[in-house]
Amino acid sequence: MRKSDKTNEYKMLNRPEEIALLHEKASGSAYRQTYHIQPVSGLLNDPNGFVYYKDMWHLFYQWCPWGAVHGMKHWYHVCSRDLVTWENKGLFIRPDTYFDNMGVFSGTAFVKDDDLYLYYTGIHGDEKVQMLPSTCFVRLGEDGRAIKHSAPLYGPEPEYTENQRDPQILYDENTKKYYMVVSAQTTDMKGCCLIYESEKQNSGWHLKGRLNVPGFEAFGNMWECPSIVHISGQDVLMFSVQGVHMEGHGNGTSHNGYIIGSMDYDTLTFTHDGTFHVLDFGFDFYAAQCAANLQNSSKAILSAWMGMPGAAYPTDKEEWSGCLTLPRELTIRHRRLIQRPIPEMLSIRGNRINPGLGILPAAAELMIATYPQDFNMRICCRHDGTGGLLIDYNEHTQVITIDRSEMAQRFNQEMGEVRTRVLENGLTSLRIFIDNSSIEIFINDGDAVFTSRIFPEADEHSYTLNECRSLHIYEMHTAVKDDFVL
Ligand code: FRU
Repeated sequence: MRKSDKTNEYKMLNRPEEIALLHEKASGSAYRQTYHIQPVSGLLNDPNGFVYYKDMWHLFYQWCPWGAVHGMKHWYHVCSRDLVTWENKGLFIRPDTYFDNMGVFSGTAFVKDDDLYLYYTGIHGDEKVQMLPSTCFVRLGEDGRAIKHSAPLYGPEPEYTENQRDPQILYDENTKKYYMVVSAQTTDMKGCCLIYESEKQNSGWHLKGRLNVPGFEAFGNMWECPSIVHISGQDVLMFSVQGVHMEGHGNGTSHNGYIIGSMDYDTLTFTHDGTFHVLDFGFDFYAAQCAANLQNSSKAILSAWMGMPGAAYPTDKEEWSGCLTLPRELTIRHRRLIQRPIPEMLSIRGNRINPGLGILPAAAELMIATYPQDFNMRICCRHDGTGGLLIDYNEHTQVITIDRSEMAQRFNQEMGEVRTRVLENGLTSLRIFIDNSSIEIFINDGDAVFTSRIFPEADEHSYTLNECRSLHIYEMHTAVKDDFVL
């Protein structure tokens, strides 16, 4: 990621012409995705406002139009009928008001009385304050544009640092009240969440207190994009922690994870089983958000940023970066989240490829059933079997290793090029989705997922593997239109 130069990237986008050339440059890239949501230009980070509303799935993303930098953040809108084929709808929330003149940060959706509301953090900045966050909202207008409410719902709490953001709004059936879970940081730099409460959705908000998560009082320095999601009869507290080292995750200190438990909105206590689980074991996964209005079903659908804060990517030099993961269906089994690709993914499966050729289409799905023995595979390697992304499972230690250090394009080496995880029940299957510049590896029917960006060069489209029970390779159809809509 290029360092932002405050004048060029801290400005609002007004007219499509301002980024037409940037879009042209990005859309000509060899690494453009074909079935993942990606930015029309510039940098995409967190998914925002994910919701099902009026027969459509709506998803927004954090967007800096000006290049691969975390400059001025806007919200961009995409829509889908099936969660697979997505259409660009255009720029949605602009940083055009006093209280959000330095950025429209992450947030969530809520449907009420047939209207869709989107809550976000507006960042104000001027000569006196660098960053003043407040919780703001817009309503989706008939014409598809955002109608911004004239004032924030509440400003920052003085007892905490200016790092307060990312509201998740929800309604609790027991107390019959609305709540917002907001990321905050204590003055001694500990990450936490604040809980706001109101009888009504769009007024009367007040701070109820800090979320009490026993045992996690000194866990990292920031819990970004927090949310409490109800899945399979249990509450799941999800957030992206910063400032923590974890085994098997290289030198990276940011991890998107979750804790399973139960939330009591009267005492603001999240009672749990003591474990912070990492959501995804790959290299590039952050700021996950579940679709808002599935709260009371047994499943949840998740989308995340396939990228990491502070990381640089090979497309930065083409002035664009980032994409979202495929939506995943979440359930809980044995106090662990199980993540599966949504069933609708089958609709874009194309021709079956003859595995004998050893060649991978640039957009492919692989289904592999393994024997109870060591397994190793190279994906996107050269024709002679060298290089590529290595997947290695050792039957004796039950450790699966993903290693991207042998690919020609190496990046973010300082965060470590190897990720590992113990598979307590051994390795039985892999379902792998490859797009032009990403790979999502679902192990054992959703028991673990490794999500990563990879940037194969022209001669890196082969694969090798040792013996397996079965291997099916399919070409994938294009599902996300890469058109220039503003
Ligand atoms: C997470 C995050 C959020 C913030 C947004 C800004 O990646 O830092 O906390 O709202 O990105 O783009």
